[in-house]
Amino acid sequence: MSEITLSNLSQMKQRGERIAVLTAYDASLARILDEAGVEVILVGDSLGMVIQGRESTLPVDVDDMVYHTQCVVRGRRRALLVADMPFMSYGSPEQALHNAGRLMKEGGAHMVKLEGGAVQLETVRRLTDHGIPVCAHLGLLPQSVYKLGGYRVQGRDEPTARKLREDAEALQAAGAQLLVLECVPSGLAQEIAATLRIPVIGIGAGPGCDGQVLVLYDLLGITPGKAPSFARNFLAGAGSVQAAVDAYVRAVKEGGFPAAGESFA
Ligand code: KIV
Repeated sequence: MSEITLSNLSQMKQRGERIAVLTAYDASLARILDEAGVEVILVGDSLGMVIQGRESTLPVDVDDMVYHTQCVVRGRRRALLVADMPFMSYGSPEQALHNAGRLMKEGGAHMVKLEGGAVQLETVRRLTDHGIPVCAHLGLLPQSVYKLGGYRVQGRDEPTARKLREDAEALQAAGAQLLVLECVPSGLAQEIAATLRIPVIGIGAGPGCDGQVLVLYDLLGITPGKAPSFARNFLAGAGSVQAAVDAYVRAVKEGGFPAAGESFA
């Protein structure tokens, strides 16, 4: 089976074929995801919460991300590997270039993900000009949780919805090749996915995106504390972790996940 590339993802979008994305932080689970046919594995800075037991993603540093990306690389064979740029590792284009370079050279990532809209345009241009593919992340930005005042749905009124639309188009124009939309009303996410050329991957953004991503620990029902309302425990009744991941991939491909109750109006 050949390796997944960004052009494969773009062809999937054109064909209307849904893209299945999951987070992983170690080799064993990365192998299970890969064998289930997950197209993209994200080494998310959510590892700060689900692996390190922290309150937020903010304390995660570049060394943590390099270490977990190296672990995931040893388990994956086919999936495209995206690594998160952690909080305060991309405050300027130069700092972003240095740290994204580490994630790719030392970690083995194929693409980096960073949070934010207009403020990140210069950084996205700088990274892509240097051959580093960028996945942008809009909507609920976990690294800005204290500024946002909590983990809340974004883009519910017209000015914030308009800003999201504008940021999404500007990030694509700056060179971003993938976009994660987190906790955004379904209608708005569907509209952004239909407008953009690049694949849009939703989490809490409804069924109208080009693909879906979940934090693996939410899918397995082992999230510390309360699981987000948009997540589904696929392990319940599945019998094994592999069967749970298989069920997730199938549900994403067939449009059975997310359901209306797992999305925001
Ligand atoms: O860190 C992470 O796991 C993420 C997903 C929530 C998309 O960014």
